[in-house]
Amino acid sequence: MSSPTPRPARKAVIPVAGMGTRFLPATKAVPKELLPVVDRPALQYIVEEAARAGLGEVLMVTGRNKAAIEDFFDRAPELEAALEKKGDQSRLDAVHESTDVAQVHFVRQGEAKGLGHAVLQAAAFVGDEPFAVLLGDDLIDARDLLLEQMLAVQAEHGGCVIALLDVGAENIDKYGAVAIEDAPQTPAGDGDAVVRITGMVEKPPREEAPSSLAIIGRYVLAPEVFDAIRATPPGRGGEIQLTDALLALVEQGVPVHGVVFSGRRYDTGDKLDYLKAVVRLAVERDDLGPALRPWLRDFVADLPAEGASPA
Ligand code: UTP
Repeated sequence: MSSPTPRPARKAVIPVAGMGTRFLPATKAVPKELLPVVDRPALQYIVEEAARAGLGEVLMVTGRNKAAIEDFFDRAPELEAALEKKGDQSRLDAVHESTDVAQVHFVRQGEAKGLGHAVLQAAAFVGDEPFAVLLGDDLIDARDLLLEQMLAVQAEHGGCVIALLDVGAENIDKYGAVAIEDAPQTPAGDGDAVVRITGMVEKPPREEAPSSLAIIGRYVLAPEVFDAIRATPPGRGGEIQLTDALLALVEQGVPVHGVVFSGRRYDTGDKLDYLKAVVRLAVERDDLGPALRPWLRDFVADLPAEGASPA
């Protein structure tokens, strides 16, 4: 059983090698992580979230057809020179944001053999320290300090920490589901509950799910997870599942806690959630909100009632 570790996590791993089949045909040529949420790729919000939480070293696990991601986080000398020549400082700043926010490194997954397999590609980069995993299509609102809470729980208890969301019993079959200890839940810094995880299963049939608490795309992991992944055979869908490796750690007695998130989260790999993220973030922006909000009110007022045929 691992004891609480005094080492804080410093590094973040962002797997972006998935195929993005839910967003076809757009994702045939454009990685889903680069689809713009208002005017910035979803992935830029995620790198900024890692940097804000103090994780300035970021490794992206990429795959085939993902070269555009490397380009996005690279300097663009010709574009920068053109903007400088025009004296367009605000657009130049926007271009620099993507390269200045964190130190971004890349490794290839080779074959998309599952999230566990993607995380394993980070073993050499991570070394023997706790680290965070942020899924490249899972957007957490910048005002909700989920990752910071998770890092604090990991610093206190050691082991691993997983972000959880109550998705309701009717939706749990689309997620990894967890079983938790009955003990009273303790609130973390920002008020989200902290629970001890006793079991987990990837995409269970609804009637077999241990709870309606779903695993969402933020993890803080102990380096022991790499050996657990190496020992994990392909599971659901023939993929090496991170959930299966984490269950093995639970069974070995490694503390695995969950932070039950109560804030705003968008799965930008899902079309409906993507649309909600764009609208939600755009109406709150100072540059777009004042024009968009009145338009949106009129638009909604004119919408036919559900079931009625559109005009
Ligand atoms: P998803 O379950 O969303 O899979 O992966 P996907 O293939 O990307 O998308 P759909 O379901 O086909 O539309 C969750 C995260 O894990 C990464 C993905 O890039 C995404 O960030 N992933 C998944 C990998 O990096 N490698 C894999 O082999 C699988």
